[in-house]
Amino acid sequence: MISSAAPRPPRFLRACRREPVDATPIWLMRQAGRYMPEYRALRQNYSMLDAIRTPELAAEITLQPIEAFDLDAAIIFSDILPPLIGMGLPLAFVKGVGPRIERPLRTTRDIDLLATPPAETIMPGTLEAIRLVKATLEPRGIPLIGFAGAPFTLASYAIEGGGSKTYARAKTLMYTEPAAWKRLMTRLVTVIGDFLARQAEAGADVLQVFDSWAGALGRGDYERYVRPFNRMLFDRLRRVGKPVIHFSTGTSAYLDAVAASGGDVVGVDWRLPLDEAWAKIGPDRAVMGNLDPVALLGPWRELKAHTDDVLDRAAGRPGHVFNLGHGILPETPVENVRRLVDYVHERTSVKSLSEV
Ligand code: CP3
Repeated sequence: MISSAAPRPPRFLRACRREPVDATPIWLMRQAGRYMPEYRALRQNYSMLDAIRTPELAAEITLQPIEAFDLDAAIIFSDILPPLIGMGLPLAFVKGVGPRIERPLRTTRDIDLLATPPAETIMPGTLEAIRLVKATLEPRGIPLIGFAGAPFTLASYAIEGGGSKTYARAKTLMYTEPAAWKRLMTRLVTVIGDFLARQAEAGADVLQVFDSWAGALGRGDYERYVRPFNRMLFDRLRRVGKPVIHFSTGTSAYLDAVAASGGDVVGVDWRLPLDEAWAKIGPDRAVMGNLDPVALLGPWRELKAHTDDVLDRAAGRPGHVFNLGHGILPETPVENVRRLVDYVHERTSVKSLSEV
C-alpha cells in the first residue's frame, strides 16, 4: 500500500472543484447565529456592529458552530452591509427590525458622492478576524469562507434603506436613470471586488457572493441591469484564484441566467428540486444548498425525508455542497442541526475513498 505524501484537500474544497469526496460536505448559511445559546449569550454584551468590528469577537463567533458541530467549513462572522458604511451610508442594526440605512440614496447626486475606499480602511476588523480564525482552522483542516453582498442586493438596500416588498425605489432608479444605476453598480463592484480579494489574501479559502434579493427581478431586467455587473465582479474574482460561490434566492425562473453571470458553485434555494436546478445551471458547475430552512423546525422524519430528497437528486455526482436554501432560522433546535450534519456525512460516506 502506498500512502500519498500530501494530505487530501478538505472535502469542501474538493466539492467546489467538482472532485470526488469521501462524504458530502455540509455547512449552513448563518451557521453562527441566534439559534445558538453561545451566540445569544455573547451578543447580550455587544452590538452587532461591535461584534463585527472587533476581530477577537468575530473570530470567537465564527468558531462557535465549528466547536458545536462536525461542519466542513467556517464562514467569517460579519454581514453584507457594513461595507456600505465606508462608502458613505451609515447604518444601524435595529433589534427586532433588521438593518436600516440612515440616509438612503435618493438622488443621482447621492450616488455621485459615494466613495470607493479600499477594504483595509473600511473593513479592517473583518480582515483581521480572518487572520485570527485561520490560525485555529488551518491545523484542523477546516476551510474558511469569506463573503460580500452582490451589487444588486447592496444597491437595493442602499436605495430602499431596509427590507422591501416591491423594490419600487430601486427599480424606478434602474428604469429612469440608467446611467446613474450603472455608476452605482460599478462603484459597488469596485468596493466588493477589492474586499473579496483582500479576504482571500487574509486567508479565506473560498469566496461567497450573496445576491439574496436578485429574485425580485424578472429575467429581462436581471439580464439587462444586473448580469453585466455580476460578470464584472466574477471576472475580477477569477484572477484571485479561489473557488467562488454565487448565491441567490427566488431565481428559479432564470437560474440559467444567474449561472451565466459566474461562480464555480451556484447556490439553489428549495423552490426547485436539486436535479432540475442542476440541469438549468449546467453540469460544468458545482451546486450548493436546496434544503428548506423550515424543514429544520419539523420532526426528524420530515427533516430526514427532505434531506434524503436532496441527496437522492444529487445522486453522488461530484460537485454537491449540502446547505440550506437560505439562512438558518433563529428558532431552529440545536439538536436538529447536529442530527442533520451527522446524517449527511453518514449517508454519503464512501469509506474506501479515504483509503485509496
Ligand atoms: O452565515 C454566517 O454565519 C455568517 C454571518 C452572516 C450574517 N449575515 C450575520 C447576521 C452572513 C453571511 C450574513 C449575510 C447577510 N446579511 C445577507 C445575505 C444572506 C441572506 O440571509 O439573504 C443579508 C440579506 C444580510 C442583511 C441582514 N443582516 C438582515 C436582513 C438582517 C436582519 C435579519 C435577521 O436575521 O436578523 C441581518 C442581521 C444579521 N446578520 C444577524 C446575523 C447573525 C442577526 C443579528 C442578531 O444577532 O440579531
